[in-house]
Amino acid sequence: MKRLSLCLLALCWLAISPAQTPDAIKQKVDALIKQMTLDEKVGQMTQVTMALIAKGGWGNQDGSVDPAALKKAIQDYKVGSILNTTAHALSVETWRQVQTQIQDEVKNSRLKIPVIYGLDGIHGQTYTLDATLFPQSIAMAATRNPELVRNAAKVTAKELRASGVRWNFAPVLDCGRQPLWSRFPETYGEDVFMGKTMGVAAVNGYQEDGLKNPAAVASCMKHYLGYSAPRTGKDRTPSYIPEIELREYFLPQFREAIKAGSATIMINSGDINGTPVHASKYLLTDVLRKELGFEGVVVSDWEDIIRLHTRHLVAHTPREAVVLAVNAGVDMSMVPSDFSFFDLLKEAVQKGEVPMSRIDEAVSRILTLKMKVGLFDNPYPEKEALANFGKPEYQTLALNAAHEAMTLLKNSDNILPLSKDKKILVAGPTAQSISALNGCWSYIWQGNVEELYPANSKTIAQAISDKASNTTLSGGKGFNNPANYDIEKLKNAAASVDVIVLCLGENAYAESPGNISDLALPDNQLALANAAIGTGKPVILVMTQGRPRFITTLEPKVKGIVLTYWSGRKTAEALADVLFGDYNPDGRLPFSYPRSMGEMVLYDRKRTEDVREVFNENMTWDGYKPLFPFGYGLSYTQFEYGPIQLSAPSIRGSEKLTVTITVKNTGTRDGKNAVDLFTHQHYASITPPMQRLRAFKKIFLKAGETQTVQFTLDQNDLAFVNAELKTVTEPGDFDIMIGDKKAQFSYAK
Ligand code: BGC
Repeated sequence: MKRLSLCLLALCWLAISPAQTPDAIKQKVDALIKQMTLDEKVGQMTQVTMALIAKGGWGNQDGSVDPAALKKAIQDYKVGSILNTTAHALSVETWRQVQTQIQDEVKNSRLKIPVIYGLDGIHGQTYTLDATLFPQSIAMAATRNPELVRNAAKVTAKELRASGVRWNFAPVLDCGRQPLWSRFPETYGEDVFMGKTMGVAAVNGYQEDGLKNPAAVASCMKHYLGYSAPRTGKDRTPSYIPEIELREYFLPQFREAIKAGSATIMINSGDINGTPVHASKYLLTDVLRKELGFEGVVVSDWEDIIRLHTRHLVAHTPREAVVLAVNAGVDMSMVPSDFSFFDLLKEAVQKGEVPMSRIDEAVSRILTLKMKVGLFDNPYPEKEALANFGKPEYQTLALNAAHEAMTLLKNSDNILPLSKDKKILVAGPTAQSISALNGCWSYIWQGNVEELYPANSKTIAQAISDKASNTTLSGGKGFNNPANYDIEKLKNAAASVDVIVLCLGENAYAESPGNISDLALPDNQLALANAAIGTGKPVILVMTQGRPRFITTLEPKVKGIVLTYWSGRKTAEALADVLFGDYNPDGRLPFSYPRSMGEMVLYDRKRTEDVREVFNENMTWDGYKPLFPFGYGLSYTQFEYGPIQLSAPSIRGSEKLTVTITVKNTGTRDGKNAVDLFTHQHYASITPPMQRLRAFKKIFLKAGETQTVQFTLDQNDLAFVNAELKTVTEPGDFDIMIGDKKAQFSYAK
């Protein structure tokens, strides 16, 4: 009987491969679940880290698998998924070997259910040596170019799949409204529309042409929900977010990515208003499943189920933690450093604390995912996928993306672009560092090991020297090199130069190691900057950083400022192109660059945030005064916007409004211009924001050229969340704002 059903199962697997219809998958999954024991089911829901199967555990450096440990994971604990690396990136060949060994061991198991492996390809495939690293999401948002986001995601998918890995823990859809937060660089910035647009572009890139495609990976939206706004700014600490804000600023990105078909979702490690999200049936089942209609796999974040007991203190025992999370809606536990979840869940089911129906539901989602990514057809690294690794055109794409990210924030007296025969001093801690250009998730979690970067990666100092032969350096290799902070050296070196390019900012960090208590620049960087300014030579400040660090006191004293963010493999080349005018910058700030800790007002503020009232009529309206506003970014040419033309003075119901504007490049250089369209409703039942980004388009204009840009808006583009937590559009008058132009129209039901 058993043998017969296994044969049937095998036939079933074969049958599914040509026609992967949802019905066919469902039938196959149902048939498989009927065969499974409780152990096999809870095993599928268990995800462990590579350290548990690697020789030497966490100490492993070379990706070698310990056959006995692997056997234990697969045969004893029947784990459904493995993630992560132990120390750092491995070669593409080593990754393929690891995957092959895992699936070989699976072949010895009763039901031979393939393991799905997951990695964090956040801005390119993090954990494969020589994989292409693109700008971090915050920099991708500055490009205002969703096509770049999609294409970069596509390359990431190809390089993951070439490594034999079919599940990517990206995109990060958290809204970056707390710049202190160490994961700010992983976000698309402070705006919801930007997050939705770029998030969907990323999902489309990862999953293009279906998950079975050997150039695609399953995406994982994260971290649902409200992870990015911890009150203190420290990673994995509590958020207090009223539901109206949750729905206005944090949920829409997930809603849109779900509509785009994202296959999986990872949960916020923190708590919102006192409820850890991993224990929130409301968020994980009522909202996510019933309201948003998500049908894919919910995976916990790192160790977050047990932490309901050990950190959040809402579960009295480890088993209660498991019961809470699984009943709330978590399908797979990223346990990941032991097998405790397996034992605890099994016990909980046996005691009737978790119903079998819930287990079957979770397992069926996991098996469905595995079928969709083609693991049942061929669990091994695909031959054709390997050919997609490391293609030369990826470098061009990385450079294009870095170019479009570069954001010129100040250019007094047109100090930039520099002529290549100028005598230039390049100094500062980010000038001779590679890790400070790439940031988190770069060949190692923290991104801070210089030796792991491809040998031909360039520092800013090298990229500048390549273009300008009169370049002098002050400082030494590596961000923390004491020579980088040597003021006397800098002063001496500055004596004979025309201009100083001072490179400040942040070295790479990820998650809690990146926690800070202040956005102020460290004293040693400020001292260096003041010394450079004190020489009397013009200073170009280059800020290479994941989040905005204060430059308020330096800004008036420097001639130029370029923000590079962490723009990946080609940061240095892209910056040098901008500094010397080989690329005309077009990046736009995806956040409000704050002035000081007490002035952290976001661009979509309420009118009362604009008010600075001293007493009665002694009032100003300048509450939103960041150092540079959201959307700011200069060019070496000038763009002039014509008047905004509307297709009608008013629209009703579902009618559409066409917004037309002409853009003229009035300068002497070709350049790209991002046209941001904002709306503002005059009066509404909920205090309306002063500005909301509703659309954007990037265009290229030759010097002297004029182009017409058109947007189509409808009621959905005017909507907001009301007091009843419904997304509504209320009748009323609206402003449309593009650049320095404004037009008014009204909306009626
Ligand atoms: C992070 C996730 C990541 C996971 C696996 C966690 O610490 O919060 O974003 O996907 O580790 O590496």
